Amino acid sequence: MFTLISEQIEQYCEDHTSSESTLLHQLNRETHIKILRPRMLSGQLQGTFLSMISKMIHPQYILEVGTYTGYSSLCLAEGLQKDGELHTLEIEEELEVIILKYFNQSNFKDQIHLHIGDASQLLDQIRKEWDLVFIDAEKKDYQLYYEKIFPHVKKGGFILVDNVLWSGKVIEEIKPNDKETGAIVAFNDYIQNDPRVKNTILPFRDGIMLIEKL
Ligand SMILES: C[S@@+](CC[C@H](N)C(=O)[O-])C[C@H]1O[C@@H](n2cnc3c(N)ncnc32)[C@H](O)[C@@H]1O
Repeated sequence: MFTLISEQIEQYCEDHTSSESTLLHQLNRETHIKILRPRMLSGQLQGTFLSMISKMIHPQYILEVGTYTGYSSLCLAEGLQKDGELHTLEIEEELEVIILKYFNQSNFKDQIHLHIGDASQLLDQIRKEWDLVFIDAEKKDYQLYYEKIFPHVKKGGFILVDNVLWSGKVIEEIKPNDKETGAIVAFNDYIQNDPRVKNTILPFRDGIMLIEKL
């Protein structure tokens, strides 16, 4: 598996990160056994980071674009306010069973709302003022998601965007048919020049962009 930092350092970081809850461990395991492309799941290191960021912000409304099997949703939900809501969007209908199996066992089951469909359309239908957003779906559509979501992020709210270093390809010459790398590079440049935000990239796992709406 490609890592931006050496595998030994990645392993060291995992060894010095709190263990997953039993529920997250079971979901991680079931995803690896039964679901295609389990590498998409956030996992212990990134999941713990998302959980802590959410606890620091203590959001009322969280939006996630790209649920997969729901691992990151469960991590993000840990910081929700008592009356808070997390809305998560996933295009693959066949993932609904495993997602709901784990959401329904969580302490946050009544606060997590799963929307099955194409995020580019769903984003026009769900109307909340977001405190925290996690973008982790179709890389080619990052900019589209961002533009649709941005007006509905509270001032001082945060947007996290996953995979912004794309296995390090963002600093290599882009192959003509590689639309995903091109889109991520354009997105990163756009954020860097967006005067409405403060931003930084954490070279963590596949790179996470942290964006604060000013
Ligand atoms: C990297 S995975 C998400 C991983 C998850 N956030 C986690 O950290 O465990 C990306 C997910 O986005 C979904 N996706 C891709 N395009 C989408 C779209 N247009 N609308 C909604 N979901 C989409 C994929 O089906 C996939 O499950």
